[in-house]
Amino acid sequence: MKEKALLQLYNRITGCQCPCPGERTGAGLVWDRGYPGSRIVFLGEAPGGEEIKQGLPFVGQAGHNLAGHLGLAGLERRDVFITNTVKCRPTKNNGRANRRPVACEVKHCARWLDEELAILSPRVIVTLGDVALKRLGGSDMRVGNCHGQPFELEKYTVFPMYHPAASIYRRALIEVIENDFKKLGAWLRQKR
Ligand code: URA
Repeated sequence: MKEKALLQLYNRITGCQCPCPGERTGAGLVWDRGYPGSRIVFLGEAPGGEEIKQGLPFVGQAGHNLAGHLGLAGLERRDVFITNTVKCRPTKNNGRANRRPVACEVKHCARWLDEELAILSPRVIVTLGDVALKRLGGSDMRVGNCHGQPFELEKYTVFPMYHPAASIYRRALIEVIENDFKKLGAWLRQKR
């Protein structure tokens, strides 16, 4: 039921014509074949090159980090559904590098994410990084100020986390991220 609705949605995303400035590729090619029945959704930023190649979210270096962090929360990848705020891969240097999505791309993809979340109807959304957090919580939010502190929105609770790639550039964040995932695990167990 959910699988069919999601598949139809991703097929529509594949035909998306983004009017925003900047180069990008692969709209709609990446979607989680995980567990759409899960009430826990992890929301990233946008797919990278490896994700487009494999058609799956978080399968590159950031995905490797995420897989390790999930274990700290007592979760496995198949327990959750993973998706992205922006549905294409924003690129630069003729596709050689990823770039952060611009506001126009986040806004243009909002319709897709809203539809996807309506199908998934999660209880908890774990945002990974500032792009996902701002998309759901508003542009004033900063992950540095509220990571590990859940807050309520109308339809679900948001649990903000640093992006799993953040520790690649800032090693000091590893401990912070690991503690947040342990906290997420304890919080989920208490919520059950
Ligand atoms: N980073 C993200 O935010 N999403 C992915 O799918 C991969 C890396």
